[in-house]
Amino acid sequence: MKYAGKHYRTIWREGLEICMIDQTKLPFGFEIYRAKCYQDICHAIRIMIVRGAGAIGAAAGYGMALAFAESGDRNFIDQARKDIDATRPTARNLFYATERVYNVGLIDSSLALKEADQIALEDEQDGLNIGLNGNTLIKDGASILTHCNAGWLGFVDYGSALSPIYIAHNQGKKVFVYADETRPRGQGARLTAWELQNEGVPYAVIPDNAGAHLMSKGLIDLVIVGADRIARNGDAANKIGTLEKAIVAKHYGIPFYVAAPLSTFDTDCLSGKDIPIEERDHDEVLWQTGPDKMNNLHTIRVCAPGSNVLNPAFDVTPAELITGIITEKGIIKPTEEAIFAII
Ligand code: MRU
Repeated sequence: MKYAGKHYRTIWREGLEICMIDQTKLPFGFEIYRAKCYQDICHAIRIMIVRGAGAIGAAAGYGMALAFAESGDRNFIDQARKDIDATRPTARNLFYATERVYNVGLIDSSLALKEADQIALEDEQDGLNIGLNGNTLIKDGASILTHCNAGWLGFVDYGSALSPIYIAHNQGKKVFVYADETRPRGQGARLTAWELQNEGVPYAVIPDNAGAHLMSKGLIDLVIVGADRIARNGDAANKIGTLEKAIVAKHYGIPFYVAAPLSTFDTDCLSGKDIPIEERDHDEVLWQTGPDKMNNLHTIRVCAPGSNVLNPAFDVTPAELITGIITEKGIIKPTEEAIFAII
């Protein structure tokens, strides 16, 4: 990704420091967070300095590797894995990465960092290949709806749902993106909008409840979203609100694609019912933070004082609502047979 003329990955390593673009500061500030120990990584994942399936996975892999660098004590290593795994429950990539680095590190701890580097590199390459495969679905002049942020910020680079859009745009196709704002944290309004702006892709942020209206007017040709975990039957967990879009897209006959690397698939989950859904802090719903016209940040209450709140962070879109899954190895049907054939 390019920001201010410089190439960045969302997360990278400098010696024993893990650097990441601080996504809690975007789009109003651009800061780099430096993790020096595995607890720093836990903190970064928990408060969403780093977020998005692939980026969380890369961070978790690095967290596990830092733990091996911090101590040779098996109890410490095991505790570190438990701590990292406890940061966020839904994104499969997190557990995929800690498991890979843990297994390599137990055999030879000096290889743990290399393994974490490899996970980050694979995530970047997968993003590019998802983009190349997904681009084949995008016609010149297409209007695409996306939800949350499954762009380069959600991965090490390129992204999943946005990667095909970047490739199409770079090939000269005219594309237009409708970005759901994605309450409560506003990953669409803040992160996707910022990314698309940087890449020069024309877009509009839309309120979360505008998708059905736009689809009913024939303004959306295609929906592409990311995924945090995909069960073996093709059910896909993604940011809360995705399910509604899938239901409406089916109603209007609009193709609905999920884009995700194979590291997001969890064949131990028989269906979406087995995917743990994170319940996040109620303050995310009750309060919003942003700058005033003078660029001073404020946190303001947006719900009636005393309101009860529910804040599920993800929902599960059943396979029958998904037209196809765009992976780094090709586009597949959301079925157990197709998943096992490719994995
Ligand atoms: O809560 P977040 O921001 O970590 O949400 C997860 C996601 O980024 C999305 O669900 C995304 O669409 C798929 S993973 C890049």
